[in-house]
Amino acid sequence: MNDPRVSAQAEPDGLPGEASSDWPRGAFLRADESRDAEFYRLPRFVHHIDPGAVQALSRLYRRILPPDGALLDLMSSWVSHLPDDIAYRRIAGLGMNAEELAGNPRLTDWTVQDLNREPYLPYPAGSFDAAVIAVSVQYLVRPVEVFAEIGRVLTSGGPLVVSFSNRCFPTKAVAAWRVLDDRGRIDLVRRYFTRSGAWRDVTVLDGSSGDGDPLFVVTGRRI
Ligand SMILES: C[S@@+](CC[C@H](N)C(=O)[O-])C[C@H]1O[C@@H](n2cnc3c(N)ncnc32)[C@H](O)[C@@H]1O
Repeated sequence: MNDPRVSAQAEPDGLPGEASSDWPRGAFLRADESRDAEFYRLPRFVHHIDPGAVQALSRLYRRILPPDGALLDLMSSWVSHLPDDIAYRRIAGLGMNAEELAGNPRLTDWTVQDLNREPYLPYPAGSFDAAVIAVSVQYLVRPVEVFAEIGRVLTSGGPLVVSFSNRCFPTKAVAAWRVLDDRGRIDLVRRYFTRSGAWRDVTVLDGSSGDGDPLFVVTGRRI
């Protein structure tokens, strides 16, 4: 938590802004700045949140994501946490490990892409009806660009559902994430939405199931 690259100004009010001067120096540095491709080279067929949090997320998706819609699962792996009994027209996954993505039974197509090197999404404008980022947003070093890109590839009114808990790979989480508490992280993600300029109705939901891992969710709808 005491990362010398993040000064005391790394409080919610000092965090991110559209102009680079709005961001505290070092806010998006990681302890491990080696290539993400190396970190994610080997597949991890594990759950990153406990079963209660997975079920809570799945229930939330059931409520928010349009059945039969085209979905984008960004920062995806071998699981998408979508309700088993709902069919979606398309579920495109984008993540870092080909084996994990190939092993995800819900994906209709998938792409390996490092969003920290290339934040532009390989899809035409308006390709999707909804998008999700599950327990991964803390790894984005160019979040505002990525959120703007998600806006570009969604249809008007389409929801983006960003979920996170209190666990992470600490060496790959951005410094801003590591110095903030849960409340501050919610605020940080809200700012990713508002600063990228593509979203309305930005809303915070508490998806925690009561015991086990907490689940925080921030959603917005494409303007
Ligand atoms: C904690 S896992 C979560 C995976 C999945 N969304 C889930 O809910 O289980 C973090 C995911 O973020 C993805 N990721 C991390 N860094 C990334 C990057 N630079 N570009 C694209 N995806 C990235 C990894 O591929 C990994 O699958």
